[in-house]
Amino acid sequence: MQTLNSNTTTTQATTTCPRPLGLVPTMGALHEGHLALVRRARAECATVAASIFVNPTQFGANEDLATYPRDMERDLGLLEAEGVDLVYAPTPEEVYPPGFDTWIEPGALAERLEGAARPGHFRGVATVVAKLFNVVRPDRAYFGQKDGQQLAVIRQMVRDLNMGPEIVAVPTVRDADGLALSSRNAYLTPEQRQAAPVIYRALSEAQRLWLDGETGAGRLRAAVLEVLKSEPLLGGIDYVSVADAGTLEELEQVAGPAMVSTAVRLGQTRLIDNVLIGSA
Ligand code: PAF
Repeated sequence: MQTLNSNTTTTQATTTCPRPLGLVPTMGALHEGHLALVRRARAECATVAASIFVNPTQFGANEDLATYPRDMERDLGLLEAEGVDLVYAPTPEEVYPPGFDTWIEPGALAERLEGAARPGHFRGVATVVAKLFNVVRPDRAYFGQKDGQQLAVIRQMVRDLNMGPEIVAVPTVRDADGLALSSRNAYLTPEQRQAAPVIYRALSEAQRLWLDGETGAGRLRAAVLEVLKSEPLLGGIDYVSVADAGTLEELEQVAGPAMVSTAVRLGQTRLIDNVLIGSA
């Protein structure tokens, strides 16, 4: 496995590698969710590249950039064990050199849900993902369904800007009790960790109701909210959404693919999760 820090050597390496080339973009602090992306890429691509870069431009001023978990040595060991061929691990200066001033500005899709709670977040995500694509030049890029809105924003960017890579969505990996794996789960106290599966229980209730024939989005939202509110440790519920899976516009009736999603706070930690319904 090659680990490269510079844009130029990375592009040189990927220009001559066997194709198709799959890219798994990450911010490190790898868990089984990331490894599921790597395994899918390994199964489908002749060459697998992963990137490790904690992207400062997608963190708000009061967010956890400084404390975001980092363990490069451990991450590289995990990627090597999965048979990754190349890791692109640039410094912030390599990605954002002095004078950097060009951005990808996603549209309305990026203003809803996470975008409303985290202004500028998807501008940072879209910009760094575009840069990763330009440096690595993959044929396919693998993203987790766990960050459902991020996936939708990236799909739209690729479509709107005629970018090359095929975007592959990989199902959310969960712990046995249903909690979606996330690097931020590491922040939870043991009590908060015990309470956290309420998020998936709540989303699953909407899924169950929908399978029983309920198509009223208002009733599905209310059902999710009721389960979330039953957990006293939940400090706040930022949103409960039942939205069109492509545009993320809130629905009145579920008539096609839809995403049921929520963002909640457990202590200082903000957790998001989603499930797909409606033949998604
Ligand atoms: O999902 C993530 O880990 C990040 O948002 C990504 C896609 C690597 C961009 O920094």
